[in-house]
Amino acid sequence: MNNWKSGRKILLGITGGIAAYKIPALVRLIKKSNCEVEIILTDFAKNFVAPMTLETLAGRRVWTNENFDFSIPHIKLNDWAEIFVIAPCTANTLAKIAHGVADNLLTSAAIAAHCPILIFPAMNENMFDNPATQENLKILSARGVHVVQPSEGDLACGVCGRGRMPESNEVMLEIFRTLSPFHDLAGKKVLVTTGPTHEYLDPVRYISNPSTGKMGVAMARAAWYRGADVKIISGPVEINSYGFEVVHVKSACEMLDAVKENLSWADYIVKAAAVGDYRVKNFSSQKIKREGKDELTIELAQNPDIAAEVGKLKRDNQILIGFAAETQSLNDNAHAKLERKNLDFILANDVSAPDSGFASDTNTLKLIPRDLNEKEKIYSGLKEDIAYEVWSDVV
Ligand code: PMT
Repeated sequence: MNNWKSGRKILLGITGGIAAYKIPALVRLIKKSNCEVEIILTDFAKNFVAPMTLETLAGRRVWTNENFDFSIPHIKLNDWAEIFVIAPCTANTLAKIAHGVADNLLTSAAIAAHCPILIFPAMNENMFDNPATQENLKILSARGVHVVQPSEGDLACGVCGRGRMPESNEVMLEIFRTLSPFHDLAGKKVLVTTGPTHEYLDPVRYISNPSTGKMGVAMARAAWYRGADVKIISGPVEINSYGFEVVHVKSACEMLDAVKENLSWADYIVKAAAVGDYRVKNFSSQKIKREGKDELTIELAQNPDIAAEVGKLKRDNQILIGFAAETQSLNDNAHAKLERKNLDFILANDVSAPDSGFASDTNTLKLIPRDLNEKEKIYSGLKEDIAYEVWSDVV
């Protein structure tokens, strides 16, 4: 299960749009992800990206109309592929696929496809908004083709608008979302808190902890791969937020307000944030001066317990998953928090263990379900991989 992203067979079709200049970086990323790639280029795509560049990066020949011959590559490539990605996809190719036109190797392969098709339309905004293009997109979506809407930004034609292809790492995320072995969270809404909180003493100093948000984002990303709509309430850390709606907060009190505001929306609530248990009692609106003070005593007041508040407010059909970051008595403390906060599951995290807890890419977690009929389980590995497994057990 941990390796579901590795070794995947990706058929990549490139059409003649300027966004094709991004594709060599995508091919590198596919190879770096230990996946295999076969590439089909339309004649016009060759104006934007050289076949030899792609062949060098992919480590194999690319397929063009010149080698569309008796060896029936449009059939054989499809028999090999697990996914057919068309990026960028021009209005022209979009229209052809929507209407069953098979006048080159790429469109013939699209019609012969029996794996999921993932399309990244990219073009000038007026071309994208044209009713014919919109109609064609509807036709394809209705047929089960996965269409990733272009984003807004600077377009090659010099205007700023909708029509940009996502960046290569984002295309990769969409590929994995389509290839995910499970889509059991499709239609579900997942609210994740992540990162640290900052509790300010004065305008320039705060009390915090080393949380990077990686574990929370891993839970969010794995839920997104499985089809969920994901909203993240993030403390002040930089996160890869592609595909998520993000609410930025600083303090525990702000996080509580944001969680309450979004609570009724969620089917699952994951509390991975490392929330400060205390805030400064008397915030100084001016920077505290060091002169004349050999010592400084700061009084702290207890912050609200967000997970416990959610535990009180949640509906019966909402699932609340908490974490327990511990440095001693992992089991006892985690069980006590599970009860006290009315959680459905707790992930016990020994943050003193090597390669675990704060800031690390890896973690070791123990899932403790509230339901005594369910089994406890231990996961160890990359945060994103173990998050995917946690969802397998929670769902
Ligand atoms: O972000 P990373 O660098 O990837 O690090 C990951 C992590 C170590 C932060 C993560 O794996 C983790 O353990 N998160 C929970 C941290 C924590 O605050 O644990 P806790 O045992 O203090 O709290 C128990 C639960 O109550 C947690 O779900 C926490 O979010 C919640 N809580 C705690 C205090 C508070 N005032 N409000 C809360 O909601």
